[in-house]
Amino acid sequence: MTRVFSGIKPTGNVHLGNLFGALTRWVDDQHRADSIYCVVDLHALTVPQDPAELREATLRLAQILLAVGIDPSVSTLFVQSHVPEHTEGAWLMECTAAFGELRRMTQFKDKSDKADFVSGGLFTYPALMAADILLYDTDEVPVGDDQRQHVELARDLAERFNSRYGPTFTVPRATFPAAGARIMDLQDPTSKMSKSEDQAPGTILFLDEPAAIEKKLKRAVTDTEAEVRYDVAAKPGVSNLLSILGAATGRTPEEAAQGYTQYGPLKTDAAAAVIERLAPMQERFRELAADPAETARILAAGAEKARAVAAATLTRAKDHIGLLPPG
Ligand code: AMP
Ligand code: TRP
Repeated sequence: MTRVFSGIKPTGNVHLGNLFGALTRWVDDQHRADSIYCVVDLHALTVPQDPAELREATLRLAQILLAVGIDPSVSTLFVQSHVPEHTEGAWLMECTAAFGELRRMTQFKDKSDKADFVSGGLFTYPALMAADILLYDTDEVPVGDDQRQHVELARDLAERFNSRYGPTFTVPRATFPAAGARIMDLQDPTSKMSKSEDQAPGTILFLDEPAAIEKKLKRAVTDTEAEVRYDVAAKPGVSNLLSILGAATGRTPEEAAQGYTQYGPLKTDAAAAVIERLAPMQERFRELAADPAETARILAAGAEKARAVAAATLTRAKDHIGLLPPG
């Protein structure tokens, strides 16, 4: 059976882009593949975090994943730091990656240019990500386009390790969402919707109330024509509304465009569809949030399942690279 692995960082607020671009795909994948999903709290540490906030964000993100439909009886859901094999595997990957290879990662260049404190972890982060993936004999890694280079590196490291020390790791490949799954900012539809402060008018958050969703969609930037058509280059705002309406109702943006001639009704219907799609997930989130012990139990069981797989792979890798087995 195909093995799927993906991870999401517990930083910022989950928004519609995360939901339609990543999480609904995770939910779909769990029925055709053996899926393992991870809240990557160690990756969040590449920039300084408030300890209480990080703990809270990690639990909340796990609850959101369960609420959107990750089913722990079908998939494995766990928190990265609960499986110490990840950090140990990361060291093997750091020693397999070339310095120049890590230096060429565009995300490192972007983030280190902007940050006033650049941690060593920010630089070696792709090695940890490679360990995450390779420890589970992963075939497919569902990610957004921004992670393409990191998954490529994981492939290269798997191949290099295998050719140096003998067959050890499965060589993974990235899978990407359909074109319409890229959700853009409602106020600036040429840049993607992103995790940001609570009140951002261009971002619809997973936990937004219906009134906020309506308001944000009603104020979404469109254009001065009066024609509803999916054309990302010429009509980014309208196309984004069609992507949102389509994703919320299980259709392509082109299908969603049918029957609309004006922007007003398109916005109203997009808001109604998003509210209807989110309502049962938000309800489930509230139930889970009221019982953190239940989430803790699910995560403990997930970590135990994950650890059994990760430990076997790590033992194999340590043996092949020449580390003396204990006792
Ligand atoms: P991030 O929010 O950047 O940590 O990303 C978490 C996951 O959501 C990744 O798989 C991203 O590719 C995906 N994602 C983030 N923003 C968007 C967006 N605006 N549209 C579609 N997918 C997104
Ligand atoms: N780096 C990814 C991001 O920022 C998160 C991540 C960490 C990940 N480990 C992973 C994604 C392993 C896929 C597989 O979105």
